[in-house]
Amino acid sequence: APKAIIAPSILSADFADLGAECSRTIAQGADWLHVDIMDAHFVPNLTFGPPVVAKIRPHVDRPTESFAKGTFDCHMMIAEPKKWVKEFKAAGCDLYCFHYEAAIDSTAAESPEAPRTEQKTSPRELIRYIHEQGMLAGIAIKPATKAEVLFEVLDSGDVKERPDMVLVMTVEPGFGGQKFMASELPKVQALRARYPDLNIEVDGGLGPGTIDQAADAGANVIVAGSAVFGAKDPAGVISLLREAVDK
Ligand code: DX5
Ligand code: ZN
Repeated sequence: APKAIIAPSILSADFADLGAECSRTIAQGADWLHVDIMDAHFVPNLTFGPPVVAKIRPHVDRPTESFAKGTFDCHMMIAEPKKWVKEFKAAGCDLYCFHYEAAIDSTAAESPEAPRTEQKTSPRELIRYIHEQGMLAGIAIKPATKAEVLFEVLDSGDVKERPDMVLVMTVEPGFGGQKFMASELPKVQALRARYPDLNIEVDGGLGPGTIDQAADAGANVIVAGSAVFGAKDPAGVISLLREAVDK
């Protein structure tokens, strides 16, 4: 499996001091920052948009190489992922990770009044578009979605249409601090068995108590919000997570 990438989720940071929280977390040993974008349609919660991302970007050196330290890993929990690609690129996003469920159905929103304006986007087309805009592309699945739906894009013969990372949610997206769902790990195992070099991210409920199961299943990109920002020793937690994956 590829080596560990630790991506603290700034959803659990102090929003009043976000720039300093971001630079401090990178100094504490984090590889990436995981930036949770929620639109109150795809998930029942609302966070922040491009202006906030643009304001925190100068607090962390922008990586000049793909996957390098300082990558802004934007987890797009939004109903219309295609619509925001250019704005997030301009704001400083390096990896644009959209939800499979939102790409195949823009009405896959929580609210019945959700906008039904946009046409279905195929995941392949969206990945191509994200690549054309100069970002890495990720594709995320919620607990109700099977891992097999990702095979089609991962098996694409065209590298422009293939994701650079997949994200297997280990909680229902929407909130930090929820309980880890070990029931999602067979998806990680199946993906790792089929794609030995794939970057597989897990998100939700990860911390010292759950990292071993996730690492054993084959995850290598580890998101942790409350476990890092709520810790007395965030640097210690980051290195513990890394060692569990790289052991
Ligand atoms: C949940 C978000 C997560 C969240 C994780 O919808 O996608 O990234 O911040 O928080 P913890 O690590 O506290 O479960
Ligand atoms: Zn997330």
